[in-house]
Amino acid sequence: MPVNIVYNFSKQKQKLHVHEGLLQSRILFLLHQIERPDSTVSVVFMDDPAMTAYNQQYRSKLGPTNVLSFPATEIPDELGDILISVETAQKEAREKGISLHQRLTELLIHGLLHLIGYDHEISDEQAEIMFSREKELYCSIQHHHARRKKMPQLAINVDHIATIRQARGGAEPDPVHAAGICELAGAKGIVVHLREDRRHIQDRDVHLLRQTVKTRLNLEMANVKEIVEIAQDINPDMITLVPEKRKELTTEGGLDVISNAKKLRKTISKMSKAGIPVSIFIDPDADQIEASLEVGATYVELHTGRYCDAENEKERDQEFLLIEEAAELAFEKGLRVNAGHGLDYRTTTRIAAIPFIEELSIGHAVIARAAFVGLDQAVREMQDCIDRAGRI
Ligand code: PXP
Repeated sequence: MPVNIVYNFSKQKQKLHVHEGLLQSRILFLLHQIERPDSTVSVVFMDDPAMTAYNQQYRSKLGPTNVLSFPATEIPDELGDILISVETAQKEAREKGISLHQRLTELLIHGLLHLIGYDHEISDEQAEIMFSREKELYCSIQHHHARRKKMPQLAINVDHIATIRQARGGAEPDPVHAAGICELAGAKGIVVHLREDRRHIQDRDVHLLRQTVKTRLNLEMANVKEIVEIAQDINPDMITLVPEKRKELTTEGGLDVISNAKKLRKTISKMSKAGIPVSIFIDPDADQIEASLEVGATYVELHTGRYCDAENEKERDQEFLLIEEAAELAFEKGLRVNAGHGLDYRTTTRIAAIPFIEELSIGHAVIARAAFVGLDQAVREMQDCIDRAGRI
């Protein structure tokens, strides 16, 4: 294996998680970029106390640093060791407003360049050469992820228009009519959840929407026989599989793909025969991402609910980090990435700024605002929230 990754964490810090597969594929990509594809490199991820010990021993410096490199001098094709403190990288990522894995990638590039002879400490000229090569390599990774440059598209969930209609059991307001207004206001997709209990969207709505939606119709649904058959009949542009409980007010959490793998694989195979891409609504969790890939999903929709409902800024930052890392990991694994649930006019911009997310599915906040300013205006304001993400 050309990349050997090891960990040196004290027990209570095991939680500082690093997505090994993601970083491994980045290091392999970088080895190609520096024209050393056949070389091996060892990377040790550690916490601050471990890094402090190395910094003291080898550089006689106090406290931790972010990265240290030790070139291998004797073995051909072995570049050497890169030591990285994940704890320091995490602090630096927060200060720079980037994700942990973006910062780890910067440090890996820095360490790798040291291993092949670059040294910014020799002179200003050498520093300039090294830093400009660092930038080039970082850009090449970004370029490799070309899709990250696009802003996510807004898909509006019109379930709650149907909720209002069902309150009186009549025909108004009509979610089919609402979908048209959303599209004219700039939405790039319409989402409806045909629940087993039919509490809001009805079969008639889905049939009509299939005929009228000009953008993309995403049918959100439980993985149950009756609804799967309806989806096969309707042929939406995609489906999103969600967990469904009779008593819940709205979808409460992501689908547990691991324990439902067999049933999911069966449905995804049926959908793929019908040419319908499948998304699975999951919590931002590495194991659920792996499982989604394994059962054959094309997309995952990352659950943003806990981020939106966070009770303080610290908790919100933690939840945000999980979504950001999950988006990056899912993309890197080859999945397409959507996100949604609970997003409103305050929480959307930050999520929209996460690279790799293709579509945001937003319902309640837009329909609630529409009651005061009209649906057209409410959709346009949400689109502004997404557009602002390009500027932060
Ligand atoms: N995504 C999924 C999977 C959902 O179940 C819902 C709610 O129907 C949404 C997105 C939209 O959530 P909200 O209505 O809170 O914007």
